[in-house]
Amino acid sequence: MTRSIRIRAGVAVPIALSGLLFVSAVHTATGASRTAERAAAEGHRLAQAWCQNCHAVEPGMSGWFDRGPSFQAIAEREGTTALSLKVFWRTSHPTMPNLVISPEQAEALSSYILSLKGD
Ligand code: HEC
Repeated sequence: MTRSIRIRAGVAVPIALSGLLFVSAVHTATGASRTAERAAAEGHRLAQAWCQNCHAVEPGMSGWFDRGPSFQAIAEREGTTALSLKVFWRTSHPTMPNLVISPEQAEALSSYILSLKGD
């Protein structure tokens, strides 16, 4: 038991780090909307801290953290928009601990999830 947990962490951490580097490289290169970028980066950080126990928060991580759908799968769904996520933050999610998410944090998490569309 302990052994498999150790192996998983050993693989997941480098993957998470390379995801971070990749995201920051893309952001610097495009120089698109600065505010949206900053929000997505903050959302990424929050997602790793709060959501990663149950969701694959980065593309390619499915299979590691699969209690909920991966954030990429959520992003790719037809109905996922900034508005649908906004509504979601206000509902209480039966299987999720009731995190208190401020409007700024909700915005950041939404930007991050939507940034995964098409990756
Ligand atoms: C304790 C485990 C757990 C944690 C922590 C958790 N989730 Fe979830 N989440 C789930 C499960 C399970 C589902 C799918 C079942 C459901 O919708 O109730 C889900 C579904 C979702 C959905 C999709 C709802 C839909 O439309 O199907 C979103 C968006 C989501 N979570 C966002 C988050 C975010 C953002 C965080 C971190 C702030 C987070 N979750 C943390 C377990 C978790």
